[in-house]
Amino acid sequence: MTKVTVVGAGNVGATCADVLAEREICNEVVLVDIKEGFAEGKALDIWQKAPVNVYDTRTIGVTGDYSRTANSDVVVITSGLPRKPGMTRDDLISTNAKIVNAVTEQVIAHSPDAIIIVVSNPLDVMTYAAHVTSKKSRNKVIGMAGILDTARYRAFLAEALNISPKEIQAVLMGGHGDTMVPLPRYTTVGGIPVTELIDADKLNAIVERTKVGGGELVKLMGTSAWYAPGAAAAQMVEAIVKDQRRVFPVCIKLEGEYGIDDCYLGVPVILGKNGIEKVIELQLTEDEKALLQTSRKHVKDVMDAYDKIVAEEIGK
Ligand code: NAI
Ligand code: 2OP
Repeated sequence: MTKVTVVGAGNVGATCADVLAEREICNEVVLVDIKEGFAEGKALDIWQKAPVNVYDTRTIGVTGDYSRTANSDVVVITSGLPRKPGMTRDDLISTNAKIVNAVTEQVIAHSPDAIIIVVSNPLDVMTYAAHVTSKKSRNKVIGMAGILDTARYRAFLAEALNISPKEIQAVLMGGHGDTMVPLPRYTTVGGIPVTELIDADKLNAIVERTKVGGGELVKLMGTSAWYAPGAAAAQMVEAIVKDQRRVFPVCIKLEGEYGIDDCYLGVPVILGKNGIEKVIELQLTEDEKALLQTSRKHVKDVMDAYDKIVAEEIGK
């Protein structure tokens, strides 16, 4: 029996729970929120869809009762504020850090062996916060952003080429934000290098749109996206609970890979039953290395801001 907990029954959390149930990725999904009755309602609604769309994953909602999450195999943390127009992901740090740390403590107390997937923003630094709080090994506390950023890039390419998105394989690296590192030379369309199918200017425009892809949706909706992010988190859960050993860009603490130490960044990995089974080290060009260093510096600055918040809290 596989059990998955999703913390935060808002837009992303409820979507993730829905995809997990609809695709029967696990046997049971426990949805947790702090708002009285909210998770219970969302879980009941998803369960009532089961006879219509024909699935049997059981969905259960609780308000802050972590005993119901005990012995989860995977826990997805989506609790926290989303962006509003005009905000950066980094503006969320102090509120979301407190939420993510408190949630991680509860999760670990009831599911000490769970693999934790962080979704809350600012993603790379919230992964850092959960990793440090959990005291678990780095391969078991990881962040979701790369699958989403890559999906946006693939969707834009599919539209531009008038080709099915199923045919587009790609990988992006770096932090979740405008400093993400695109790698067009690793993008293929049905095995054909994308550079043979689209001219450089069009490809550049797609890369630039991808970098601000989250902001584009915030402007349109007044809050951040949830369908693609929820599905992306569910895809990571699936790779873990089914030990699929899939290759995805995932946020992890780097310990020397790409010449970077002690920073949380998205890199291609093999994802399986132990969480990150292996970090894949690509041979980057000098330009790509420079972009990755810029991304590292940005994430490191936000990590330092987080450290300052923690130090101030301890000093109180
Ligand atoms: P939302 O506001 O719809 O849902 C957040 C939920 O968290 C709310 O229901 C709230 O009651 C709950 N919550 C707050 N504190 C809690 C606590 N201590 N325990 C349990 N639940 C708690 O927000 P949405 O749109 O679902 O976004 C959630 C987070 O995910 C945001 O930080 C957002 O920026 C981030 N995000 C990250 C993405 C990524 O690629 N990593 C993509 C999209 C969103
Ligand atoms: C996104 O990229 C806000 O991080 C969220 O949609």
